[in-house]
Amino acid sequence: MSTTKRDIPETVPDAYRAAIARILIDEATLQARIKEMGEAISRDYADKNPVFVGVLKGVVFFMADLLQAAPIPLEVDFMAIASYSPDAREQGYVRITKDLDICIEGRHVIFVEDIIDTGLTLGYLLKLLKTRNPASLEVAVLFDRPTRRLIDVKPRYLGFHLPDMFVVGYGLDYREQFRNMPFVAVMHPDFFKQERRR
Ligand code: IMP
Ligand code: MG
Repeated sequence: MSTTKRDIPETVPDAYRAAIARILIDEATLQARIKEMGEAISRDYADKNPVFVGVLKGVVFFMADLLQAAPIPLEVDFMAIASYSPDAREQGYVRITKDLDICIEGRHVIFVEDIIDTGLTLGYLLKLLKTRNPASLEVAVLFDRPTRRLIDVKPRYLGFHLPDMFVVGYGLDYREQFRNMPFVAVMHPDFFKQERRR
């Protein structure tokens, strides 16, 4: 796994390169773990025609790679939620701006998330999906940062534990930037100082 700035691939644009300190999880490590997760899901859901549900936008990179690593009959759908005020979020409240197209009643649902941090968003959405009476409901998450957890959610499929640091890449953004890096990186501390001055 790469740890220095020199290991950042040449294809990364200068604007991104200047903002990141180092790669935390490189592309090969990410893809190998996602392949294992896809294989585990395939074994468990081979004859269940599951519905994979994701929340836009961060999850699209992980969702695409996970689905390709699970060569079984399946369906996929997305929801979108509005950015909430910290207060509303603490009360476990989010506003849905795009709901599912597929009816999940009686279906085997796998809720796919890029990252669980406090767990508040996930906790709210799982409660909502349960009211729609799926046959089963499990969680597949790529990154888990258990140190900041406020709500008890136990993912059935988990990719990596993250340390208590803000990271970007592979879907994770800072102000909508950096999602399209194929690896996960730690931001340079100076970057946030510059941002505050802007
Ligand atoms: P929570 O679990 O409700 O606290 O919210 C998780 C959401 O916060 C994720 O879906 C991300 O959009 C965002 N998030 C949490 N940690 C990070 C990070 O380290 N980098 C980028 N986004 C993050
Ligand atoms: Mg975000």
